[in-house]
Amino acid sequence: MTEVVIVDNPDAAGALVAAHILDLIRAKPATTLGLATGSTPLALYRSLAAQLPSGGVDVSLVRGFALDEYVGLLPGHPESYSSVIGREVVGPLGLTPELISVPDGSLAGIRTAGDHYENAIIAAGGIDLQILGIGSDGHIGFNEPGSSLASLTRVKTLTQQTRRDNARFFASEADVPLHCITQGLGTILRARHLVLLAFGNGKAEALAGAVEGPVSSSNPGSAIQLHPHVTVLADEAAASHL
Ligand code: GLP
Repeated sequence: MTEVVIVDNPDAAGALVAAHILDLIRAKPATTLGLATGSTPLALYRSLAAQLPSGGVDVSLVRGFALDEYVGLLPGHPESYSSVIGREVVGPLGLTPELISVPDGSLAGIRTAGDHYENAIIAAGGIDLQILGIGSDGHIGFNEPGSSLASLTRVKTLTQQTRRDNARFFASEADVPLHCITQGLGTILRARHLVLLAFGNGKAEALAGAVEGPVSSSNPGSAIQLHPHVTVLADEAAASHL
């Protein structure tokens, strides 16, 4: 079932989801979170960091699995999702770095990285809460249109639209990697609870497709309709096509 909550702005969504995540961790200290990157979840991560000191919650056992990673960036590249997760999530929240995983986007590891990641998620007992954003072309994680609804973690080619959208994080569009490694739609659907965040006009069409459109691999976000427990938090602009 999909519940849609309309919020005033990203900060309001962040505060709501952060409070829920802290409750989850209080009840289950070894909670496993699915971590999204991109600009959308930043307010949530900021809110978690702000609520933590007063929340009396020990996060040292929290596990995290990033959704995706670029392929072929040099280790430590500031825009690799490994760096972003470290900077925006692990550091500010004081999570235990050894318990946080990002798919291996190095050229050396790429052949086995998908299977390795799937096995690591299973060994951790699965993901309790998966945070998701949505791309303007409807992708979740980096599952671009055409992704199988049953897909698992694998290498994908980024669409031109996604590379254009993400060029703002790099010196130029040409510097955006051509490939990525992403949890599949099937991987995402195994998480126990999906929390999809969408803000701004630019997401309105993609969000309507995900929530109400036909379920189709050409519209990857629509995979959420196959999940029994989905919460969508959107501002009025992103929800305007619903
Ligand atoms: C990125 C990420 C996705 C993210 C989406 C939206 O490329 N791979 O996980 O949800 O595209 O990005 P943003 O939140 O910056 O709009």
